[in-house]
Parts: sequence; C-alpha cells; structure tokens
Amino acid sequence: MQPTFDLSGKRVLVTGGASGIGLATVRAFAANGAAVAINDLPGDRLDAAVDECKSKGYTVFNVAADLADADGVDAMVGNAVRHLNGLDYLINNAGTPATTTPIPAADFNRQTEALWSTLLSVNLLGPYRCTKAASKALLDSGGAIVNTASVSAFGGGGSSSPYCATKAALLALTREWARALAPAVRVNAIAPGLVDSDWMCRFEETEFDIAASVPLQRQGLAQEYAGTIVFLAAGATYMTGQTVIVDGGLLA
Ligand SMILES: NC(=O)c1ccc[n+]([C@@H]2O[C@H](COP(=O)([O-])OP(=O)(O)OC[C@H]3O[C@@H](n4cnc5c(N)ncnc54)[C@H](O)[C@@H]3O)[C@@H](O)[C@H]2O)c1
Repeated sequence: MQPTFDLSGKRVLVTGGASGIGLATVRAFAANGAAVAINDLPGDRLDAAVDECKSKGYTVFNVAADLADADGVDAMVGNAVRHLNGLDYLINNAGTPATTTPIPAADFNRQTEALWSTLLSVNLLGPYRCTKAASKALLDSGGAIVNTASVSAFGGGGSSSPYCATKAALLALTREWARALAPAVRVNAIAPGLVDSDWMCRFEETEFDIAASVPLQRQGLAQEYAGTIVFLAAGATYMTGQTVIVDGGLLA
C-alpha cells in the first residue's frame, strides 16, 4: 500500500529518476498529480522511463545530464525549472557505487584516486550542484529537498569506504542546507538499507545473510523508499535537517 497525497500543481525534479528508488519516486509523485522533471544519464533507460510515464498520462519532462558535469547540471536544473515553471521539490537521489563488486575496507589499493574522484563528483558534488542551481526556485516556492544517502553512512560497510564517506558527508550537508535555506526550504534525507534495484554493485548472497541481518527479512522495495521520500518532501512540514533510516531494522 502506498500513501496518497494531493500533489496537483506541485513541481518536482528527481535525479537518478530512470531506475530503482528514483523511478519509483517519479511514479509516486506523478501518480499523485505532480509534474516531474526526470534527470538521469542520457540514454535508453531514461527515454524508456519518460515514455512509460507519458503513456500513463503523467506530466513528465526529460532533463538528461551527467551529475559529474558541473556546467551540464546547471543547464539541466535551469531546463527543469523552465519546463515546470518553478520548482517545489528537489530529490537528490542519483548515486553510484562506481564498482561492480564490493571493495573491502582494508583493500586500500582498490580505493583509487579515480574511484574517489567519481564518487565525490557524482554522490556528493552532484547533490551540491543541483541544490545550488535549484536554490532560488526553491526559496521562491517555499519548497523542500530530500537527499538519498545510505545506512552505510553510519558504519558497517557498503560498496567501498569512499562510497560510505560520500553518503556520510551528504548527511552533514543535509544539516548544513537545512540551516542555510531555512525557514523557507526544508531539507531532509533518507538512509536506505538493502534495496531491490538494478544497483550496479552486486553483493553475493554468501556475503550477506539477509534473513539473519534484517529483522524484516527482505530487501526494501523501491516504492517503499519512495513513499518516505514523498512524505519528507510533501508532508513533513515540521521536519528539517533530519535523516530517516529506512532499512527493515538492519541497524537495529
Ligand atoms: N541499491 C542499494 O543497495 C542502495 C543502498 C543505499 C542507498 N542507495 C542509494 O539510493 C540511490 C538510488 O539507488 P538505487 O538503488 O535506486 O540504484 P539504481 O542504480 O537503480 O538507480 C541509480 C540511478 O542513478 C543514476 N545515475 C548514476 N550516476 C549518475 C550520474 N552521474 N548522473 C545522473 N544520474 C546518475 C543511474 O543511471 C540510475 O538510474 C543512490 O543514491 C544510492 O547511492 C542504494
């Protein structure tokens, strides 16, 4: 069951909106009446997501861009604000592990400068670039930002130590931006646990025993994360600077 809100007239930009949590968030906003600019890397996956939403009668716009490209992000956010005629909610969701297999914390040799550079640029500077470019429109509308972090920000590992560091830093920025943009704009984050998505880093079954580690004994569905994102953006009117852990009890 998904919560429903009346979001007609609301204008949303979702990054990483062509897959997983991002696509579920696009669907959740659009199905409740919002207009959504969908950002992702240019390509078939984004085009298919936009086509799918349009075929359902949703109001969506394709705003492709690589968040690692600072100038491209500025133009992308400008396009989104123009298409939407303003902006109410920015969902900084795009992220990458930049590796297809987990890199153990002790394996410093695989934590290369190139890995650090990609992770910092996409996972940390990407949200900064979007927030900076969208801040005026959000201040004008009295809107909200939701960042997608990760439970790996709190320890216990993730796809790599640099990945965990970018997500921990995003939680720091969530608090910084909450103070910076208050009182007009609220800024919150979700910290997902295991996600049933097309995430490029695969954890072997043997490396992680879900039944033993997750009290709810399964991965979270993309739409379960999306429901919390929609709530933080559109419903949580007295919350700012907070991170909601959505992990089936993993950290418990
Ligand atoms: N999958 C997990 O296990 C997990 C766990 C905790 C947090 N997260 C976070 O959740 C968010 C969504 O991940 P997901 O699980 O839905 O994975 P996903 O791979 O299905 O979605 C991520 C999306 O981000 C896009 N993206 C990647 N790099 C980009 C770039 N440079 N510019 C624009 N778009 C880019 C991808 O193309 C993809 O569509 C990410 O921020 C991720 O770090 C994921």
